[in-house]
Amino acid sequence: MNARPVITLRLGDWSELAAQATPIRFQVFVDEQQVPADMELDEFDALSCHALALAGEEAVGTGRLLPDGHIGRMAVRADWRGQGVGAALLQALIDEAERRGMRRLVLSAQTHALGFYTRFGFVPEGEVYDEAGLPHQMMLRQS
Ligand SMILES: CC(C)(COP(=O)(O)OP(=O)(O)OC[C@H]1O[C@@H](n2cnc3c(N)ncnc32)[C@H](O)[C@@H]1OP(=O)(O)O)[C@@H](O)C(=O)NCCC(=O)NCCS
Repeated sequence: MNARPVITLRLGDWSELAAQATPIRFQVFVDEQQVPADMELDEFDALSCHALALAGEEAVGTGRLLPDGHIGRMAVRADWRGQGVGAALLQALIDEAERRGMRRLVLSAQTHALGFYTRFGFVPEGEVYDEAGLPHQMMLRQS
């Protein structure tokens, strides 16, 4: 079995991490998943805590935590998936939320990723709905 790569996590605000996080989000959501480009960056970026995963100097994944406990914009570059990067990002955001005393976390999951989030204690809530042309499901995590 191959050893997992060493991944370094950085947490910071948008002014610190936008330069490295934005290209990942455009590559994954706009280029790969055809989310409209004008929906990708929004007013919540400036309000959020962002996580960035680095393999050496290379930024390979990102995600964000909003002040109201929403986790979103989880994206790992396609050639880095399946190696624990997404798990490291999500755990870092959950840890940061808990550090801030947020007990109730919410996310709008693309349905293909339900299994990924379930591993971290998120539970589906309600019906599947359309968001940016993709099927989504609300998920909750209470600690
Ligand atoms: C979803 C995503 C962030 C997962 O990142 P990743 O780096 O591939 O995930 P990891 O390698 O850390 O996987 C962690 C665990 O979840 C599992 N997993 C990963 N993706 C999964 C999926 N889609 N469904 C079920 N399980 C999944 C892995 O097998 C792994 O399990 P293990 O710990 O038993 O080995 C990544 O696939 C991605 O960026 N997808 C495109 C963008 C996207 O759809 N984002 C989600 C928006 S809601």
